[in-house]
Amino acid sequence: MKALILSGGKGTRLRPITHTSAKQLVPVANKPILFYTIEAVRDAGITDVGIIVGDTHQEIRAACGDGSRWGVKITYIQQEAPLGLAHAVKIAQDFIGDDTFVMYLGDNLIRDGITELVDRFRAEKPNSQILLAHVPNPGAFGVAELDGERIVRLVEKPKEPKSDLALVGVYMFDSTIFEAVNAIKPSWRGELEITDAIQYLVDTGRNVRAHIIKGWWKDTGKREDMLEANRIVLEDLETRIEGEVDAGSVLHGRVSIAKGTRVERSTIRGPVIIGENCVITDAYIGPFTSISDGCVITRCEIEHSIILEECRIEDLGVRMEDSLIGRNSCVRRCDTKPRAYRFMLGESSDVSVL
Ligand code: TTP
Repeated sequence: MKALILSGGKGTRLRPITHTSAKQLVPVANKPILFYTIEAVRDAGITDVGIIVGDTHQEIRAACGDGSRWGVKITYIQQEAPLGLAHAVKIAQDFIGDDTFVMYLGDNLIRDGITELVDRFRAEKPNSQILLAHVPNPGAFGVAELDGERIVRLVEKPKEPKSDLALVGVYMFDSTIFEAVNAIKPSWRGELEITDAIQYLVDTGRNVRAHIIKGWWKDTGKREDMLEANRIVLEDLETRIEGEVDAGSVLHGRVSIAKGTRVERSTIRGPVIIGENCVITDAYIGPFTSISDGCVITRCEIEHSIILEECRIEDLGVRMEDSLIGRNSCVRRCDTKPRAYRFMLGESSDVSVL
């Protein structure tokens, strides 16, 4: 059995971060989302992993390498444009061959992993098994209608949903899916839709089963989702202090501080994770904050935020929260006259001021 992880796409909902970086590499609790996916696949006993990559392929190749770090073998499959999830399956046919496979969207996080789902697929051998979850707002998702455990219909973002079961970003297939992805036509938005391919399997009498998950899952396509995923993962953080914390600082709750980081005259209220070689001075870092390597945080308060590498945040007069700050950014107070906000923002940036 193989795995196909989808890490191409446009990432429009996470601009401006995705103008320059892959959204699958945005860290949650200081670890790229894609790494959780690779670990889940490895934990399910799958070692042959294909990763679909697009414009951000260099960054993804550099981050994941040949997979030996996880004990898996990674093959990169280049998608010339984000032409849909079913298109990604289509171009992976040579890699998959006659094997069965699990397809996992590289921006999705699933708390309990996929081992149970994979084991069940291996035991029951349906043509396809789709992961579903009960959601309060099914109209925002692809929704499945079931007859017992069999899927009978899939509808993308229905106006009047017939169930509250949404498609979660994990699908299992045997090679009949290639017949489906080669038979369907692009949708109104010009993409080959995986829902259409699965519907083709249903309509041609194949056995398509539902597997409903109980634990949490998160599609991290937007900033709010990213922050929520960060919050949920940090709930399980363990205290680990490898950096230096001076006598004037106070740590409450579960805090992880990596080596080379100095905390001076600051209060940190966990769960909080701080990467390597940061300097935190006269600051308050509040719950559900992840700070990546090489950041300098001085005289400010930060809570419920994700700060990527090499950022500098200084002298903010008001607490910063619910923020996702891209690599190498600077946010600071400036007292030169005239007093004014001064911004250098990329396309699709989003700033809230007091
Ligand atoms: P989406 O989040 O549906 O699409 P997107 O990444 O283009 O984001 P947005 O809607 O904000 O523009 O994609 C889910 C996952 O699948 C994500 O990891 C990207 C990946 N993907 C591909 O690899 N190839 C594709 O053709 C598409 C559409 C998505």
